[in-house]
Amino acid sequence: MDAKLYPVSQDWARRAHVDEAKYQLMYERSVKDPEGFWFEHGNRIDWFTTYSQVKNTSFGGPGSPGEVSIRWFEDGVTNVAYNCIDRHLATRGDQVAIIWEGDDPSESKSITYRELHDEVARMANVLRNRGVGKGDTVTIYMPMIPEAAYAMLACARLGAIHSVVFGGFSPDSLADRISGCGSKMIITADEGLRGGRTVPLKANVDAAIAKIGGVDHVVVVRRTGSPVEMEPARDVYLHDAAEQVTTECPCEKMNAEDPLFILFTSGSTGKPKGVLHTTGGYLVHASMTHEYVFDYHDGDVYWCTADVGWVTGHSYIVYGPLANGATTLMFEGVPTYPSVSRFWEVVDKHQVNIFYTAPTAIRALMGAGEEAVKKTSRRSLRLLGSVGEPINPEAWEWYHRVVGDGRCPIVDTWWQTETGGIMITPLPGAIAQKPGSATRPFFGVVPQVVDAEGKVLEGACEGNLVIAESWPGQMRTVFGDHQRFIETYFSAYPGKYFTGDGCRRDEDGYYWITGRVDDVINVSGHRMGTAEVESALVAHPKVSEAAVVGYPHDIKGQGIYAYVTLMSGEVFTDDLRKELVTWVRKEIGPIASPDLIQFAPGLPKTRSGKIMRRILRKIAEDEFGSLGDTSTLAEPAVVDDLIANRQNRA
Ligand code: PRX
Repeated sequence: MDAKLYPVSQDWARRAHVDEAKYQLMYERSVKDPEGFWFEHGNRIDWFTTYSQVKNTSFGGPGSPGEVSIRWFEDGVTNVAYNCIDRHLATRGDQVAIIWEGDDPSESKSITYRELHDEVARMANVLRNRGVGKGDTVTIYMPMIPEAAYAMLACARLGAIHSVVFGGFSPDSLADRISGCGSKMIITADEGLRGGRTVPLKANVDAAIAKIGGVDHVVVVRRTGSPVEMEPARDVYLHDAAEQVTTECPCEKMNAEDPLFILFTSGSTGKPKGVLHTTGGYLVHASMTHEYVFDYHDGDVYWCTADVGWVTGHSYIVYGPLANGATTLMFEGVPTYPSVSRFWEVVDKHQVNIFYTAPTAIRALMGAGEEAVKKTSRRSLRLLGSVGEPINPEAWEWYHRVVGDGRCPIVDTWWQTETGGIMITPLPGAIAQKPGSATRPFFGVVPQVVDAEGKVLEGACEGNLVIAESWPGQMRTVFGDHQRFIETYFSAYPGKYFTGDGCRRDEDGYYWITGRVDDVINVSGHRMGTAEVESALVAHPKVSEAAVVGYPHDIKGQGIYAYVTLMSGEVFTDDLRKELVTWVRKEIGPIASPDLIQFAPGLPKTRSGKIMRRILRKIAEDEFGSLGDTSTLAEPAVVDDLIANRQNRA
């Protein structure tokens, strides 16, 4: 395949932290001498007690399958909040740390590092007065307001482990995630505000607690000011509690391997797992990638449009940028409110230099036409980034030509909740870009392409993507279930971390991520287990069986296609279809709404009763001409019915 090449400009090569020659040297050293490389770069953060051990990691493997253990900088002592705030106070106390842009364009504010310190210290004291200390878990369910970052940093300051739950999740999903990590403290807001509409966050928290109990305290940030129910013995407004405390709050001394946060994410099977990240290695990886991948220089204004409820928000709105003393923009709203020019208006308003978003947003805005972009200046932009799903070359080219006026390199960053930070990406001063390719590995990352049997493929090839060596930001375990960690990531290819992604490597050694090869789908950059949507559907009293697959969707990347079999005696109607969509939204959240539902009198199964998802995927992709071998089906006729009534006609 002949991909277009966008070379690194002279200007970029000169100005960037890393040019091509330096990339080669640093990359080689990072994989040949990881101990030496990370000994040196571990020092980019401040340590209360410096480390003498750098890397102590094992992926198990054929000889020692059970022994997966990952430790970095293990005798070092530090604190993440200290690194993100306190260490900057002497030199940049008055510099803006966070620019907040509200949902309504008339609302914005700037928070300096000194103000950030005071806000975080106060919030930490509020938590401490309610019994939160080192090792406790705290659930954060917040809109995109600065208090969300304060809450994360307040936990880090106390050594508490936060679990941020995306504000779009339903009370049921929230309840699972609260009990999944045993939080006794929840931090939330009265309501969220997105695209002019309110989100009943506090009411959702109340509903979640009513279901599971066990929560002792709820701290409520006033965002919209609407009255909400307050349980006097349990709930307190942050502004009331913060008046009672000071801005003195020392940082807890944390071992490099003490947990920093849990983030629940979807896999192929069962309930979402709690991905656990720890302190030292995570911060080294997040801050180093933020500086090098986005080529961050002092004075730059940097904007990542993600939500703090996802890993991108953790690593690239909060921890990476703040550890680097950067100015990070936090946006409460959506790209299309009040108009489809909003992103670019915000860029102009705050003179944003570095802009990082998801392909789904680019595709949606592309559909709204060039004029909405072109009427803004965007002269401040220097670099564009993409994350969350494969970016199709058409969207890449549009992003480059229209948004960046052909002037800004695009860093397509491949990584995962599990990897903690960016893994494969072009460094903008070093690596020529090809639209649609995440290109080359970051320092210390050893990607390999393997075939189904685990044979490592060489040269240009296609197969599954594994990572052969540990890196500092890697997740350490599944919270409370190390065995699940080993089974999920290290059993398919013993001795290697399996990403769940398919991948092609071209003749230039560039990596092209082709999408998930497991039962995870990626809808608008949001990761979803098909099993989760299926279990929501079968929880409906009229549904007896459901199978969910992804299908190509112009804007979302993948859409959700559900095949549903009803209880006997129930009838398929359009009303029932709508009812099921509403049902799934209520059970999981709006991001899980099925796009297409097909009522299926029967699902294709093997004689042993296993659903043949391969066939369902092909029908959903409208490629029923290539169904492959159907001879093992128990009832081949069901396939004809599914094809005849398919919802996704080309
Ligand atoms: O399939 C890959 C896709 O998103 C998955 C990880 O999802 P999540 O843990 O939610 O993290 C998203 C933000 C880091 C991956 O397994 N993915 C992420 N970035 C890219 C991507 N696919 C292709 N290109 C990317 N740049």
